[in-house]
Amino acid sequence: MTHQIDSFEEYKSEYAKSVKDPKKFWAKQAKTFHWRKPWKKTLDWNFKEPKVKWFAGGKLNITENCLDRHLKDRGDQVALLWEANDPKEASKSYTYKELHREVCRFANVLKRNGAKKGDRICLYMPMLPELGIAVLACARIGAIHSVVFAGFSANALADRINDASCNIVLTSDAIRRGKKVIPAKLVVDEALQNCPSVKKVIITNCAGIEVSITEGRDVWLFEELKKVSAKCPAEEMDAEDPLFVLYTSGSTGKPKGVVHTCGGYMVYTEYSFKNVFQYKEGDIYWCTADIGWITGHSYIIYGPLLAGATTMMFEGVPTYPDAGRFWKVVDKHKVNQFYTAPTAIRALMACGLQHVKPYKLNTLKVLGTVGEPINEEAWNWYDEHIGKGKIPIVDTWWQTETGGIMISALGDKGPRKATYAGYPLPGIQPVLLDPKGKLIKENEKEGLLAIRFPWPSMIRTTYGDHKRCKNTYFSAFKNHYFTGDGARRDKDGMYRIIGRVDDVINVSGHRIGTAEVENAINQNPVVVESAVVGYPHAIKGQGIYAFVITAGKIKNEEEVRKSILATVSKEIGKIAKPEQIQFVAGLPKTRSGKIMRRILRKIAEGRHDQLGDVSTLLDPSVVEKILKDFLKK
Ligand code: PRX
Repeated sequence: MTHQIDSFEEYKSEYAKSVKDPKKFWAKQAKTFHWRKPWKKTLDWNFKEPKVKWFAGGKLNITENCLDRHLKDRGDQVALLWEANDPKEASKSYTYKELHREVCRFANVLKRNGAKKGDRICLYMPMLPELGIAVLACARIGAIHSVVFAGFSANALADRINDASCNIVLTSDAIRRGKKVIPAKLVVDEALQNCPSVKKVIITNCAGIEVSITEGRDVWLFEELKKVSAKCPAEEMDAEDPLFVLYTSGSTGKPKGVVHTCGGYMVYTEYSFKNVFQYKEGDIYWCTADIGWITGHSYIIYGPLLAGATTMMFEGVPTYPDAGRFWKVVDKHKVNQFYTAPTAIRALMACGLQHVKPYKLNTLKVLGTVGEPINEEAWNWYDEHIGKGKIPIVDTWWQTETGGIMISALGDKGPRKATYAGYPLPGIQPVLLDPKGKLIKENEKEGLLAIRFPWPSMIRTTYGDHKRCKNTYFSAFKNHYFTGDGARRDKDGMYRIIGRVDDVINVSGHRIGTAEVENAINQNPVVVESAVVGYPHAIKGQGIYAFVITAGKIKNEEEVRKSILATVSKEIGKIAKPEQIQFVAGLPKTRSGKIMRRILRKIAEGRHDQLGDVSTLLDPSVVEKILKDFLKK
């Protein structure tokens, strides 16, 4: 097992070591895992191409490290706990032995259906244990999993399946979220009309609703499981073989497939999990994320299982059957570490303390947040009412691309400061740059957040398009990975993340590209052009504000609005629906035709005194008109 830091003093000395000799530092951590063959070179890198290889030549299978190596000492310990959407439904648990067995069986089902090493398999599934098992089953046979959050629309799903040419899709009849039953298989069926690469669909039974079966393509998991053995030797992988692809939004319209590899991701997720959450033997750890996002990959499945922890999955939503559900579940399962998103905290805070008071919450030792900046009010509420003022809050900053937590407190080992993520983890070398790329050395300064040295779980490429990886992350500043975030460093060197500095909106902790939403809106036949920006939203952090030009005058604004929302749901999914749509006659453009989103952002944010110089616009009067209509709303 990797090293667990036990004090702030020790953190400082480990950090110093990790910067002085990163290769030595990570080699020492990596040696604690099970490798079938040792690696040849600890690190080989340049940020120009970029090329990053950790532990290349080393042979392993991540599932042997998540499962097999624990069987001897903790085979009967619960590995995976599962809490259903419906509080009346019994929870389930799998010991390490049982999880190992289920993963092997699922892996054999995949093989039976033609899966092999290197194939891409798409998972569009609810938060059932089968989703966690399926992820590991892919890894067991060396297939690359591409989990798509099961809230995306058929079109969005088809884009992701096609980008990675997946040959198998794993899904379920339905998804249960609160009172809703969403027909997942129907979405898959629609998507697959445009996905020629898919040969098989394996369906898990979730809600028992009827589905249509395409003979020769669709099979039921429960039937397939009857036909396979529980023995499945793990495929031997190179440390630098891809482990998974996960699509995420960026500045351009098309989501990109972030690729993570086996060895470095394994080392870093285990190390960061144990240190950030200060997980101790016997603890029950719960991360409320969906496995459709990176948080679920790294800190529900891989990190905790690699560390031999007991990790919990929750199928439902925070407000069902009422806004006390999280706290009820914490008490029920005696949860010790609880990891959630600021948007959930704000939503629950708005529902009132009567939903918190009935619960003891006295097993909690560490609280975590992730996904977006946490505002002071939410931080204080979490601290006072959930942590009772007694336990640390780890505000963990990281990204799909970073694979693991980059800046965060390590449990109670160190100072805490509301709304500050804190110090970088050992091995992580963040810097602040000015827009020209000049290093900001002083503290008490804001700047663009970049990382100047590789860490094991960093992005290796964007699937099928390495140039895009280079352009997006490694071209803005020479020899640096650019995060797209702005940050502030205080007098003690602690970091506070301010938010995205690019055209990405963070809605309820979900990353959505403005271009992606604009592309979707523009699919509506009445729309001529649109511009999308983010604005502060009390619960979601940011909301989506769309300025839309339509063809000709519209008679019924409400109807057109509804139709645009339906278009966005169809093209991307409900999560990308704009909260606000303002119809405009023109958009502020430069003479070269570029939309000045900066001005629109200021209007949507209500900062009308900061519109800046508009005289260089093609038609400055457009701004006045937009502002007038905004104020009328
Ligand atoms: O803007 C930052 C924000 O979420 C972005 C990454 O989004 P995603 O790849 O979807 O991953 C989310 C879960 C790791 C970042 O660029 N972000 C993430 N964590 C924090 C945060 N902003 C402020 N504080 C955080 N703790």
